[in-house]
Amino acid sequence: MRMTNGQVAVITGGASGIGYGLAETLADRGVRLVLSEIREEGLDKATASLAAAGAEVTAVVADVSDEASVRALADRTIAAYGRVDLVCNNAGVVSPPAPLWEQQARIWELMIGVKVLGVVHGVKAFAPLLIEQGTGHFLNTASSGGLAPLPDLTPYTTTMHAVVGLTETLDQELKRVAPGLGATVLCPGLVDTPLGQNSVALGAIDLQAGAPAALRNAAMRDAAAHFGAKLTPRAVAESAITAIEAGRVHVAPGSDVAERARARVTSLLADIAAG
Ligand SMILES: NC(=O)c1ccc[n+]([C@@H]2O[C@H](COP(=O)([O-])OP(=O)(O)OC[C@H]3O[C@@H](n4cnc5c(N)ncnc54)[C@H](O)[C@@H]3O)[C@@H](O)[C@H]2O)c1
Repeated sequence: MRMTNGQVAVITGGASGIGYGLAETLADRGVRLVLSEIREEGLDKATASLAAAGAEVTAVVADVSDEASVRALADRTIAAYGRVDLVCNNAGVVSPPAPLWEQQARIWELMIGVKVLGVVHGVKAFAPLLIEQGTGHFLNTASSGGLAPLPDLTPYTTTMHAVVGLTETLDQELKRVAPGLGATVLCPGLVDTPLGQNSVALGAIDLQAGAPAALRNAAMRDAAAHFGAKLTPRAVAESAITAIEAGRVHVAPGSDVAERARARVTSLLADIAAG
């Protein structure tokens, strides 16, 4: 699907990082925005700076883990613009670094609620609108952690793998309905965003007194070991829009991502071939 002047895009988790990068990139193409976010203060600031740069933007506070909240977001979108062309299910948090056997049930519930059900709620609320139009696209943000293992982040990687599988299947389901419908999953390597700080603010990472520096250092060490240089949110957004326009189901920017995905797929195929 071409992204052009006058279209409408909804972006969840749009106040910061990759979501904000998507908003800037789409606004530059004349796309009208519904910027959605759970942190109201962040949303106000992001909306003001996009509007100051000339974007047409409607701000909606919504929690993607709450189905009614996302349904209300869809209603607000139609009330504001009467249509929707691109739905970016992007909101997310990261889990604290620890091996699987030390991860808390509370963190699993939060990650599944935001990352998996958040995307499901977005699809359920907006798919009927796209189907009625006969055209439209979903961009679901996962991670390179959805294409290959990332030790010490199982609640994160599990939900990201789910978003990859969900999107691949969704794309086929949508294409069965109309060729103008589709879905793309975004799987970047490490991106320069305040994901860690926002995850602390939203309670996904529970820092004990005295632990922050150690935890942050451990997380950074782990991340640096897995990923190459940090990407900018803007570069990630440009890659995502290019992939949507090319009709690709996957987009995975980052110098190290192909190598990690290849290692997983090679080992998977070898195991299958071995019977
Ligand atoms: N930063 C990275 O290195 C990286 C790499 C790969 C994938 N990702 C994924 O990209 C997505 C965006 O993350 P980011 O790095 O831009 O971080 P970010 O913290 O800058 O942006 C995420 C936004 O989502 C919002 N959010 C969190 N929970 C929400 C909820 N329940 N409802 C609505 N909004 C909510 C946050 O407030 C925040 O503004 C996430 O899904 C993340 O997992 C990030």
